[in-house]
Amino acid sequence: MLRGGIIGLGIKGTQYIELISQDPRTEVAGIYDIDKAKTEELAKKHGLRGFASAKEMFEEADLDFVYIGTPDFAHTEYVLQAAGYGVNILVEKPMATSYEEALEMAEAVKKSGVKLQVAFSNRFNQPFIQVKNAVDSGEVGEILSINTKLNDTIYVPTKMLSWASRSTPAWFLMSHTMDMASWLKGKRAKTIYATGVKQHLVKMGIDTYDALQALVTYEDGTQAFFESQWVSPEGAPMIFDFKFDLVGTKGSISVDTQDQMFHITKDSLKYRGTMDMRVNGRLLGQTAFTYQAFIDALEKGIQPSPSIEDGLENVKMLVAVHESAATGKVITVN
Ligand SMILES: NC(=O)c1ccc[n+]([C@@H]2O[C@H](COP(=O)([O-])OP(=O)(O)OC[C@H]3O[C@@H](n4cnc5c(N)ncnc54)[C@H](O)[C@@H]3O)[C@@H](O)[C@H]2O)c1
Repeated sequence: MLRGGIIGLGIKGTQYIELISQDPRTEVAGIYDIDKAKTEELAKKHGLRGFASAKEMFEEADLDFVYIGTPDFAHTEYVLQAAGYGVNILVEKPMATSYEEALEMAEAVKKSGVKLQVAFSNRFNQPFIQVKNAVDSGEVGEILSINTKLNDTIYVPTKMLSWASRSTPAWFLMSHTMDMASWLKGKRAKTIYATGVKQHLVKMGIDTYDALQALVTYEDGTQAFFESQWVSPEGAPMIFDFKFDLVGTKGSISVDTQDQMFHITKDSLKYRGTMDMRVNGRLLGQTAFTYQAFIDALEKGIQPSPSIEDGLENVKMLVAVHESAATGKVITVN
């Protein structure tokens, strides 16, 4: 049985308590959150061992792997620690919020020889598995253009996340769509031009972008456009709006995950998420598939995917998005 630790016990971390516990190959050997009361409460609720620090957990829990579900800006310290203790790592996206930190992680992981997967869970989101299959089979030919939109309602930066001012819609949302484009194309970005709007949330005391838009030109001359904003009205039927269109030389593909295939209407219309669902008491869907892929790789002794290189490239692109939005310049990425 593989022994897993969890660092960061928020929305994602608590999902991972469930995922690690329900997989017959793994068990939760320790949990830690900077919020001591939360660690203690969840340890008591699930009969787990809570630790007062990550260091203590690495030293005492005999971990085979750790899941890092801390806020976007707080992954680095724990990746470095885990690598130092020889513990395999599943880290949330974006891998880091600075390229220097991402590079430091990559060096530490390489030096220690541990395995690292970045939890780009949309690679395991069912419609996108079909997109990848169609692209890889050559059905749509060579990809010429991609157009993506991944937006959230204003609930996310104002009520769901306490740390939105230390992230942006690009770190939190565009990290997904940029990774998907790189994954599907198998090409690296050459230049990025981005613009951003910083008005509405700033007025509400949350110092971050409302919206960011980026135009990426890849090394083969093809292009992709990315929009991410997190200020849609809370009345939207779904917390996110995710659209993905690509055009190739032989055909096009269009995905709209806004419609989650289930609609319920009371005083207003709501879609209900079908990406992560309980079936016979087990949490299944894209997050579970992400986790299973990581454990499969550990069991087979192979490098997991999405890899640390995917994480690094993603951070490099997102750093360029922020630099371009701040300076108005086209940034050369590779
Ligand atoms: N893969 C996906 O689809 C997906 C979806 C949502 C969020 N995420 C990512 O997962 C990460 C966590 O997001 P969330 O929505 O669970 O956030 P959250 O705010 O619900 O949870 C974060 C937890 O980390 C704890 N924390 C904060 N700073 C810490 C530190 N320095 N050390 C230890 N614990 C600390 C907080 O107390 C909180 O319990 C983020 O990087 C986010 O972008 C990924």
